[in-house]
Amino acid sequence: MVEVRKIAVLGAGLMGHGIAQVAAQVGKYEVSVRDVEQRFLDGGMGMMRESLQRFLSKGKITEAEMNETLARIHPTLDLKEAVSNADLIIEAVPENVDLKKAIYREVDGLAPAHAIIASNTSSISITELASATNRPEKVCGMHFFNPPQLMKLVEVIKGAKTSDETLQTVLDVSHKMGKETVLVKKDCPGFIVNRILIPALNEAAALYWEGIADREDIDKAIKLGLNWPMGPLMLIDYIGADTTLAIAEVLMREVDPKFHPSPGLKQMVKARLLGRKTGKGFYDWTQK
Ligand SMILES: NC(=O)c1ccc[n+]([C@@H]2O[C@H](COP(=O)([O-])OP(=O)(O)OC[C@H]3O[C@@H](n4cnc5c(N)ncnc54)[C@H](O)[C@@H]3O)[C@@H](O)[C@H]2O)c1
Repeated sequence: MVEVRKIAVLGAGLMGHGIAQVAAQVGKYEVSVRDVEQRFLDGGMGMMRESLQRFLSKGKITEAEMNETLARIHPTLDLKEAVSNADLIIEAVPENVDLKKAIYREVDGLAPAHAIIASNTSSISITELASATNRPEKVCGMHFFNPPQLMKLVEVIKGAKTSDETLQTVLDVSHKMGKETVLVKKDCPGFIVNRILIPALNEAAALYWEGIADREDIDKAIKLGLNWPMGPLMLIDYIGADTTLAIAEVLMREVDPKFHPSPGLKQMVKARLLGRKTGKGFYDWTQK
């Protein structure tokens, strides 16, 4: 079984920065974080500092723990530097199959033979990503939820060729990072949570754009009627309309045409009304 000491996280965005932080803060792993431009790395490191500062001000960690966590995180633009001595590579780059496959090909050539490559993809086939490598038995899904610092669940997904050893290693690492896990035994788009959630979010967007109810009432209905902690339109703003759309498109293509995304959601992505990350989505986040 692979003993995981060093982790490389690819992508310092919304999810990557959080995963890197949890790996260093809770799992006590040495973590490299790789992104393609300095400003994205700086953005990711800034979000980690802010999050750690919030843990500190709530008394959940000490100043020494905050500094030790930051010292375990190594930002880099160099893919080789990030993965060449990693035991586990967690990929959190944008939800685009061609981009991800190109990265898997590159990582396969640079990472040690024993290293596991785990994808944080929300919907793309693990088997397809694994096919871009010569180590499909060492590729699986490791799907965190947003924000990774707070959300308890990791879905661990078996691709067609993933070995039991790989799954066990990734389950163990997830537990060491303080997470609860579920095992997805077959590689099916959307896995468990998004197969159920994304069609619901898409319907909420459709209700809004068809003018059937106001934004506040759609969110209030689901919060009070189904006991969700947050309404579906606000949740789209947190996840990102682009990510929501990308997952809906995979479900439509690969599971059933009935999952087709609403035209309103597509328009929002074209208009860059992506939610919190661009300042506006269903809600205005520029003042918050
Ligand atoms: N947003 C969510 O709520 C959520 C939840 C679970 C899983 N996911 C999944 O996580 C993944 C990342 O989503 P996100 O929301 O963090 O996206 P994001 O756009 O916030 O971050 C992606 C980052 O990857 C970087 N990147 C692009 N090419 C790269 C490369 N070759 N090497 C390294 N970094 C590269 C980008 O510059 C960006 O900083 C997607 O697969 C998404 O489906 C997202």
